[in-house]
Amino acid sequence: MNSSRIALVTGASRGIGAATARILAARGDHVIVNYREKRKRAQDLADEIAAAGGSASIAGADLSDEAAAQALTREILDRFGRLDVLVLNASGGLERGAAPDYAMSINRDAQLRLVRLLLPHMPAGARIVFVTSHQAHFHGRKPVPADYEPIAASKRAGEDALRDLIPEFDSRRIGFTVVSGDMIDGTIIVRLLRRRDPDAVAARTEHGTLPTVDEFATAVADATIGDQPLGHTVYIGGTDYLAHS
Ligand SMILES: NC(=O)c1ccc[n+]([C@@H]2O[C@H](COP(=O)([O-])OP(=O)(O)OC[C@H]3O[C@@H](n4cnc5c(N)ncnc54)[C@H](OP(=O)(O)O)[C@@H]3O)[C@@H](O)[C@H]2O)c1
Repeated sequence: MNSSRIALVTGASRGIGAATARILAARGDHVIVNYREKRKRAQDLADEIAAAGGSASIAGADLSDEAAAQALTREILDRFGRLDVLVLNASGGLERGAAPDYAMSINRDAQLRLVRLLLPHMPAGARIVFVTSHQAHFHGRKPVPADYEPIAASKRAGEDALRDLIPEFDSRRIGFTVVSGDMIDGTIIVRLLRRRDPDAVAARTEHGTLPTVDEFATAVADATIGDQPLGHTVYIGGTDYLAHS
């Protein structure tokens, strides 16, 4: 395991994070599968990765909780001594009953805090990838469905806060890439939207087939390798956003 990269994927118990964890592990990384509460799902994924010949461990932490983020950092350092890849995938705010400030807390403050905690332990050449949606990335420039507005605003604020760290990433020789996707077919969020606001999904499918989870997760995994300028944004799907941006 020592020669493998140590990769933390936040919110990897399901959806895009889980798919990214599978790809990174298949490519040889040791993947730390972070989850908030779905421990069994995270453990099943780690077992599946091991059964396929890969290497994974699980680490529960509600990243909106400062003490939990600190404990996660300690756990990673105690076990591995460093972190080579940080995929900031976990996101929230649409949960039923979430406090009004929760979106900002998880999508901006928690992202920034985790990066600040882990950055001193990431060697030169390590990579950070921030996962976002077109609706968030283009917030303020393109319309957003009312329900999604606080999430879009907070994810954009998170992206901006991370971009402010680019000079520090540069001096430490840490890569930083943003991967932004259109609505991703097959995710829970899009399944819920199809029921709650079918017009919002139909409006996106008018512009072409929605990207799949595997397509998006592959772009996220690819962003952890190769040469990209610091702060580069990779766009998946939604070419109409790009045409008039
Ligand atoms: N779905 C889309 O159409 C779409 C499109 C473009 C971009 N994206 C972006 O892709 C990323 C993943 O989206 P998804 O649809 O796969 O999400 P999802 O199905 O809602 O999964 C969210 C994951 O994040 C974890 N999580 C939630 N709150 C957390 C917290 N406070 N601390 C730690 N982990 C937490 C969840 O863990 P538990 O299961 O344990 O609660 C779960 O593993 C997000 O950044 C999203 O903005 C999604």
